[in-house]
Amino acid sequence: MAPYLLALFTTICVVSAATGNKDHFVGGTAGWFFNSTTNTSATNYSSWASTQTFNLGDYLIFNTNSNQSVILTYNRTAYLNCTANDSDNETTVYSSGGPDGFSTPLTISVPLTIAGPNYFFSDYSDGVQCQHGLAFQIQVQRGIGLPPSLNQPPPPPPQTPNSGVFSRCVAVYGLSVALILLQLQFW
Ligand SMILES: *[C@@H]1O[C@H](CO)[C@@H](O)[C@H](O)[C@H]1NC(C)=O
Ligand SMILES: *[C@@H]1O[C@H](CO)[C@@H](O)[C@H](O)[C@H]1NC(C)=O
Ligand SMILES: *[C@@H]1O[C@H](CO)[C@@H](O)[C@H](O)[C@H]1NC(C)=O
Ligand SMILES: *[C@@H]1O[C@H](CO)[C@@H](O)[C@H](O)[C@H]1NC(C)=O
Ligand SMILES: *[C@@H]1O[C@H](CO)[C@@H](O)[C@H](O)[C@H]1NC(C)=O
Ligand SMILES: *[C@@H]1O[C@H](CO)[C@@H](O)[C@H](O)[C@H]1NC(C)=O
Ligand SMILES: *[C@@H]1O[C@H](CO)[C@@H](O)[C@H](O)[C@H]1NC(C)=O
Ligand SMILES: *[C@@H]1O[C@H](CO)[C@@H](O)[C@H](O)[C@H]1NC(C)=O
Repeated sequence: MAPYLLALFTTICVVSAATGNKDHFVGGTAGWFFNSTTNTSATNYSSWASTQTFNLGDYLIFNTNSNQSVILTYNRTAYLNCTANDSDNETTVYSSGGPDGFSTPLTISVPLTIAGPNYFFSDYSDGVQCQHGLAFQIQVQRGIGLPPSLNQPPPPPPQTPNSGVFSRCVAVYGLSVALILLQLQFW
């Protein structure tokens, strides 16, 4: 039985090593769009977000065009008010959109670098898009920690993903070896 246990733990270890840095396509196939004729968002982004698990180092991919903006904020007040303030260090404009009518296709990648509540919205059209559903909030989990490539303010967490996975694997192997030794004792 012991070799099976070892295989099981090895699988757990390998799987946990492979769970870093997921891409989340915002809105699924609907993308990040607003219809200004009907005043509606392409999908319910809160519902979409509730189907996902977000970890540090993951990316949100916004398939959109220049008729929407993409804003990340940690400032709940700004999110609820649908306003982006350039001098607010908690707000980052990833895409400000462009002049009406051009609809230039855009793909915007946003890395998740801070755990906790992250808020996304479009402030295009004086907040009308955001007020009509082009906005959502997510809860970002620590996961395996922030990859070194994304180390930027705020200061990096103490664990890099590699050391995180490594120590987890060492712990898993340690546990399985202990279990095998335990079994040998009974034989
Ligand atoms: C907006 O919705 C209207 C009515 O459903 C539709 O005719 C139009 O094609 C839509 N516009 C875009 C850009 O999808
Ligand atoms: C979007 O879905 C959420 C539940 O996930 C619901 O509470 C909310 O009312 C929906 N919004 C719209 C505009 O339908
Ligand atoms: C959050 O946003 C509100 C509204 O824009 C602003 O008044 C406030 O100063 C911001 N808070 C921080 C900490 O920047
Ligand atoms: C809320 O948004 C309005 C415009 O929609 C703006 O005039 C006002 O300053 C904003 N309030 C805060 C606290 O940011
Ligand atoms: C914008 O943010 C700055 C810095 O947080 C703040 O002092 C200012 O009041 C904000 N402006 C608005 C309109 O909220
Ligand atoms: C914004 O600046 C304030 C004080 O200057 C700081 O406490 C806060 O952590 C900063 N927020 C972010 C997201 O950098
Ligand atoms: C882009 O959005 C603006 C404001 O909502 C609207 O007036 C314009 O018709 C939109 N253009 C397209 C191509 O959807
Ligand atoms: C969309 O909603 C805003 C209020 O949020 C309103 O001022 C505007 O006239 C509406 N546009 C359409 C096309 O219904």
